[in-house]
Amino acid sequence: MGTENFNENGDGQSESLYPAHLLQNLDFNKSPAIFKPKISAAQPGEDWMVVRPLQRSDYDKGFLQLLGQLTSVGNISRKQFDERFTLMKQAGGYYVTVIEDTRISKIIGAATLTVEQKFIHNCSLRGRLEDVVVNDTYRGKQLGKLIVVTVSLLAQELGCYKMSLDCKDKLIKFYETLGYRLEAGNSNAMNMRFVPPTVVTWNRGAIQFSLKSKYLLAILNKQNYLNISVV
Ligand SMILES: CC(C)(COP(=O)(O)OP(=O)(O)OC[C@H]1O[C@@H](n2cnc3c(N)ncnc32)[C@H](O)[C@@H]1OP(=O)(O)O)[C@@H](O)C(=O)NCCC(=O)NCCS
Repeated sequence: MGTENFNENGDGQSESLYPAHLLQNLDFNKSPAIFKPKISAAQPGEDWMVVRPLQRSDYDKGFLQLLGQLTSVGNISRKQFDERFTLMKQAGGYYVTVIEDTRISKIIGAATLTVEQKFIHNCSLRGRLEDVVVNDTYRGKQLGKLIVVTVSLLAQELGCYKMSLDCKDKLIKFYETLGYRLEAGNSNAMNMRFVPPTVVTWNRGAIQFSLKSKYLLAILNKQNYLNISVV
């Protein structure tokens, strides 16, 4: 089956996040990844498998459940999904890419390329690889390589001067086989975590507190001074 026409202009049930034709001519020979047997985004090796942009209807095809195998996703309503899909599409630069098992209409693999617009390097573009996951019952069949190589080649095709990722130590080898390198003196990923706010409602409206004050809130709640809900 490979890539198809996925209603690129968004006229209904299978609206795509980005134009599907961008995946049709990716040259897998440009990647150092070794595929045995040879596969590509256009020819994923099985007639029941397709590599394509995320579609609005993927809410019903287990896309969020698949992401749940990577990290916590939360209880996302269809409305929330739709709004985020629309915002991503309007913003541009979001290339959420999926593999579907068309026999059962389920998303079985996903990876996201985000393209950052820069002033440096002569108004360059930088790609970032995010949210790589393959359904656990389909792992070990080259689909991880397939989806990562697809979005990496797409980044190159779109004109990015480099593509970066963060990963767990045990996956360094996996990404090295696909062309990613730890660069000496430049391989540290650092994070700053932000505490989500706690919303406290009371009879005059809502106040926002940081979770640091949760002990105080717990006491106040116990004394029935306030109704507390965490969002
Ligand atoms: C990482 C992941 C996407 C790989 O998917 P996959 O379909 O099993 O990968 P492939 O079949 O294409 O395997 C490619 C190679 O990587 C190796 N590999 C795969 N997962 C690995 C892991 N967790 N640790 C170490 N090596 C791994 C495989 O052994 C294989 O090696 P080979 O080519 O020498 O046989 C998948 O294991 C997954 O979804 N994990 C949970 C989510 C996650 O950790 N995502 C990455 C976030 S950075």
